[in-house]
Amino acid sequence: MKISNIKTLILFIGISTVTGFGIVWFGIFNIAATDKHWDITTNLLELVRDRSIVSNAADLQVPDLGDKNRIAKGAPNYAAMCAQCHLAPGIKTSELFEGLYPQPPVLYKHGLDAHKPAETFWVIKNGLKMTGMPSWGIYNSDDQIWDMIAFIKALKDISPDEYQKMIKAGKHTHAKGGHGATAKPDHHEKSKAKVSHSDDHGESHQH
Ligand code: HEC
Repeated sequence: MKISNIKTLILFIGISTVTGFGIVWFGIFNIAATDKHWDITTNLLELVRDRSIVSNAADLQVPDLGDKNRIAKGAPNYAAMCAQCHLAPGIKTSELFEGLYPQPPVLYKHGLDAHKPAETFWVIKNGLKMTGMPSWGIYNSDDQIWDMIAFIKALKDISPDEYQKMIKAGKHTHAKGGHGATAKPDHHEKSKAKVSHSDDHGESHQH
């Protein structure tokens, strides 16, 4: 390489570094959830996410997801932990669904179309960094997660009335050993107090 080319390269790297640092330091990148990514950024982030999920889920064994017992057991836990973000038959929107970016997928519409069952299991167990998707494996057993996946798979064909019946028929059993055994046994009481402001928003809201 000629000396002049090396000088140009060093200058280019220098300017890029200073520009990059400036963008970070002066807060030019807008971190607000209301400021959407460019399409190219979204595509890149989704590629990173999907490749990571595929490689992590490669060796997982999938149980029988058509098992009626699993579907029934998954219903009340889905209602307690997932519907406030991912919605459900008869629940058309929620504050979390509207406010999160990326927006949670509407699971009763697309079921398991986006990922294979093993990949869905990995996502639910481990969560997704830099999105609102929590890791549910901390308090839920693998079986409880598979129960919810069986339920999500069945969700497309469940009517709002059936959904209400199913979530009332079962007991919400998440959290290993029950709520008393968890680090935060009173989180339901607290969340009830916090959300009471929105009681008058209408039936479509779910907390
Ligand atoms: C606080 C909101 C929130 C809660 C509660 C939540 N999720 Fe998510 N979830 C998200 C977001 C946001 C994404 C999308 C991340 C992305 O776009 O990459 C997501 C992604 C997913 C995905 C992968 C996307 C797909 O289309 O397959 C699955 C599956 C999923 N969640 C299942 C669940 C289940 C099951 C529960 C309950 C145990 C749950 N989520 C609770 C916010 C939430």
